[in-house]
Amino acid sequence: MSALCYLNGAYLPLDQACVSVMDRGFLFGDGVYEVIPAYGRRLFRLAAHLARLENSLHAIRIDPPVAYDEWRKILERLVDENPGEDQSVYLQVTRGVFPKRDHAFAGQPVQPTVFAMSTPIPEPDPALAEQGIAAVTLDDIRWSYCHIKAVTLLPNALLRQEAVDAGAGEAILIRDGEATEGAASNLFIVRSGRLITPPKSPRLLPGITRDLVLELARAHGIPSEEAAIPVEALREADEIWVTSSTREIVPVTRLDGEPVGDGRPGPLFARMREIYREYKEAFRRGEVD
Ligand code: PDD
Repeated sequence: MSALCYLNGAYLPLDQACVSVMDRGFLFGDGVYEVIPAYGRRLFRLAAHLARLENSLHAIRIDPPVAYDEWRKILERLVDENPGEDQSVYLQVTRGVFPKRDHAFAGQPVQPTVFAMSTPIPEPDPALAEQGIAAVTLDDIRWSYCHIKAVTLLPNALLRQEAVDAGAGEAILIRDGEATEGAASNLFIVRSGRLITPPKSPRLLPGITRDLVLELARAHGIPSEEAAIPVEALREADEIWVTSSTREIVPVTRLDGEPVGDGRPGPLFARMREIYREYKEAFRRGEVD
């Protein structure tokens, strides 16, 4: 049975949802998106995700087509009706269907296309936390507005595939000699017990998981800092982690074929993993937002 999805005001089975080939999302990748986890059928960090969506829409000059409370209703209905206690919600807004293919978009009435779906999140693979993943460094070939969560993900897809072709699970992107983020994740390193992640800038996506990890580090007295990570510091790091809503916190134990630290997930990762797990459990019980 096909999962329930939402498209332009209607709820329908995913395999019946259709969008015009004249949609600018299809023709130009002209749209933005969010990926929001739901644990115990509760939407995790919804306010932060919707605030980022609003920033992305503003940055590409689309007026918000759905108000906050309406988003909540739409996404809660999908999460309630689709299978799985834990789900990953995907939502996308494109500039909509235009009569003519034209790069410029001003001056025409805009009816954005609004789409959302959800899929069950499988149980996290324990091997990931026990062994970590390999990563490779690659030149960041993306554009200058990486803070916008745009659906235009061809560079990210090519970079991730290049990492996979090299037997790695993620690409860590390098721009002007600094490591910025992963192809689909944010980046943390640990040096002498201190957690470091690059500051927010147009070079990286302001990750919701990144913010939560920093928040939890502060709350638990773990020294943390937002600072540039030169590629040399990346190579000398005691630990490297990547974070995202879909993969949470994943330790990188090999970088470009060399072990990170002693080649195993480090002690600060083990501590943060436990803190994060406890936070998620409290969230499931409705004790935190
Ligand atoms: N991507 N940086 C990039 C380039 C990303 O694509 C993502 C997440 C992140 C982490 O952001 P967050 O913690 O808010 O998920 C950082 C999502 C999961 C995706 O494209 O599927």
